[in-house]
Amino acid sequence: MSVIPDLPPLIGESRPFQDLMERVSRVAPLDRPVLVIGERGSGKELIGVRLHFQSVRWDGPFVQLNCAALPETLIETELFGHEAGAFTGAGKMRVGRFEMADSGTLFLDEIANATLPVQEKVLRVIEYGAFERVGGNKTLNVDVRLIGVTNVDLPAEADAGRFRHDLLDRLAFDVLTVPPLRARRDDISLLAAYFARAMALELGWEEFDGFSRAASEALMDYDWPGNVRELKNVVERAVYRHRAPGEPVDSIVFDPFASPYRPTWTASKAAQKQASQEPGEPGEPAANQPVDLRSTLGDVERRLLEQALAANRHNQKAAADHLSLSYHQFRNRLKKHALI
Ligand SMILES: Nc1ncnc2c1ncn2[C@@H]1O[C@H](COP(=O)(O)OP(=O)(O)OP(=O)(O)O)[C@@H](O)[C@H]1O
Ligand SMILES: [Mg+2]
Repeated sequence: MSVIPDLPPLIGESRPFQDLMERVSRVAPLDRPVLVIGERGSGKELIGVRLHFQSVRWDGPFVQLNCAALPETLIETELFGHEAGAFTGAGKMRVGRFEMADSGTLFLDEIANATLPVQEKVLRVIEYGAFERVGGNKTLNVDVRLIGVTNVDLPAEADAGRFRHDLLDRLAFDVLTVPPLRARRDDISLLAAYFARAMALELGWEEFDGFSRAASEALMDYDWPGNVRELKNVVERAVYRHRAPGEPVDSIVFDPFASPYRPTWTASKAAQKQASQEPGEPGEPAANQPVDLRSTLGDVERRLLEQALAANRHNQKAAADHLSLSYHQFRNRLKKHALI
């Protein structure tokens, strides 16, 4: 007798997240394909796991494949398997993911990476449960529920002829869109506290004393392009770098590459990123790091000059005004940094 495994927790109390969870619970028991879409790191895989374990197939297999991780030519054999000797190098027969997922769920990431003929084969297997292994002509039957996942705009891909409309119609029985973290800010502090506590436990701290006000605000104000995965990393890093376990965590480093010693080929991009996050304190190094004051200030100055130029379409007079410098002072500084 199988036992439902401990599922990783899905944390969130915001309205958009609760609405999504309600839809997950409603669609999970239905034996229909589902499409999950959402930004990177937003929790699509966790939703897929939920869909499987809240369905009647929960004690069947949950099989995953990320089509983006494979060259186009291998997707078909990975999905459908191949017969012995189907092509050069195909020594033994191999079963594909659809066969492995028989009576369970197949979680197919980046499904838009499959070619049109493979998409046709996928459609047939979800409609009729029938397919042939590559290099074989015996029709096999499986009972698989498909959960498709994608980051691309599938209707647009279909209109452009790169994705089959019929497969899209079939997959889109229901489409679950995972809201990005910045659209559910109420969940940020909840998730941050959860990840921080787990990290504190891992580090053997007796207790976790929360975040300082400034640290909490920094977490709330950030846009989280990498969503929950990024939040998890940022919070874990903040906790592990914190030196005083009895006190609130007070320093948040969003960019682990940020350093005054960062090699110049990457410095300017990182610096821009940091500058855009901390207006007024561009690239300020962490207080506990040794600092070469002159070179750090030089870096900051050069960066501000570059930014002022870019913001003013390289009009030097306007860029000088932007920095409250005379035109002459501005030109001298450009020369100093070999920017002219
Ligand atoms: N609501 C949530 N509660 C707790 N942890 C979460 C939540 N959402 C995401 N996570 C965690 O965030 C990380 C990323 O989640 P997941 O892999 O499901 O995202 P994804 O959308 O599939 O990402 P990708 O687009 O990169 O494939 C994982 O560590 C996951 O456990
Ligand atoms: Mg994923």
